[in-house]
Amino acid sequence: MLEAVHDTAEYSLPSRLAQLIVSPAVCCVKASSKGLQKSLWNLGGTTQYSVPCNARDAFDLEDETDMQEQIAQIKQDFLQALEKVENLSTLEELRIGVLGKKGSLTSLLRGMGAVAPELRPQVGQWINQAREELENRIAQREEMLQDGALQKQLLLETIDVTEPRPLPRIGVQHPNTMVLNEVLDCFVGLGFEVVEGPEIELDYYNFELLNIPKNHPARDAQDTFYISDNAVLRTHTSPVQARVMTTRKPPIRVVCPGRVFRADEVDATHSPVFHQIEGLVIDRHSSMGDLRGTLDAFAKRLYGEDITTRFRPSFFPFTEPSAEVDLTCFNCRGSGCRVCKGTGWIEVLGSGMVNPKVLDMCGIDSNEYSGFAFGIGLERITMLRYGIPDMRLMYEGDERFLRQFR
Ligand code: DAH
Repeated sequence: MLEAVHDTAEYSLPSRLAQLIVSPAVCCVKASSKGLQKSLWNLGGTTQYSVPCNARDAFDLEDETDMQEQIAQIKQDFLQALEKVENLSTLEELRIGVLGKKGSLTSLLRGMGAVAPELRPQVGQWINQAREELENRIAQREEMLQDGALQKQLLLETIDVTEPRPLPRIGVQHPNTMVLNEVLDCFVGLGFEVVEGPEIELDYYNFELLNIPKNHPARDAQDTFYISDNAVLRTHTSPVQARVMTTRKPPIRVVCPGRVFRADEVDATHSPVFHQIEGLVIDRHSSMGDLRGTLDAFAKRLYGEDITTRFRPSFFPFTEPSAEVDLTCFNCRGSGCRVCKGTGWIEVLGSGMVNPKVLDMCGIDSNEYSGFAFGIGLERITMLRYGIPDMRLMYEGDERFLRQFR
């Protein structure tokens, strides 16, 4: 678009025009001869004949028709370009090119000085009409583009809330964890506190304070991994009892869950790593009756009101007397089935009254205090609870197994 010509030589304008180009004031002229018009056309290739000029009246408009032509040409070019506009920024560019300060139509208006005075009102009216029309077209187009952009955006942001989606992978709690939480809940409800101890344990707590001296045959039953002469991977959670008794004053009521280790072969019911939940109560008058009442409450809470306990005499170095505790078979409710091998009972834990020797070794006066303790095998009650036939399933981390506990 030839909007302003500053350098006459460069564009080799016809001399008459060239002489007159002395100031940057932009006016619109109608070339006085077809030849001049043509050369200006060739220069810019557009319909706009704007040149710097301070000698407006040097060019008289021959007639109004030419002015009309120019306006028509501007309109036509504009409308053609408008058709191709596809976004708001090009639309704005187009608008500035025609209606902006230096736009082609605006330039026509500015060049009114060169128009014969009697024609000015008419020409001004044409230009303003054209301006109005173009503004309307721009507004229309703008609306369309905005609408289109909105539609596009809406389409892009459409969310089909009914579309079926793959379910997010949600983890599940390990069955051991679920049962452990239930057991702990039960004991916390009975007034117990949850206490933990180290998995690498001193021989002193794991054996000695529990009345299992070095070289005593009772150690054979709990063969384990030795870290050093004095430290082992704990074989049971009972050392937490010793730790609590040596650091606290009675009354004591704690449950101690945790991982334990034995040099066992892996099979359906054995693993070198498994879990226990230890229980310990020390008070002035705690008795075997309290032990039984506590374990009965636990059994009923976990398996149902019709479940009860059966105590069988047993031996543990740290309890005296000691008992193996059976629960009514949760499967047949006592009548005898495959799970309980026809007995109606299932062996679940070891227990007893804390050996007075242990109390004394741990700094608790056995003349003043007595206590009871129990040790529950977590895997065992989990397997019974869910009918899990093989202990190994619980350690393999196979999702097909774990997913069943959702
Ligand atoms: N610690 C024993 C074991 O691992 C289980 C046990 C038996 C714990 C009797 C106790 C108890 O607290 O009183 O075989």
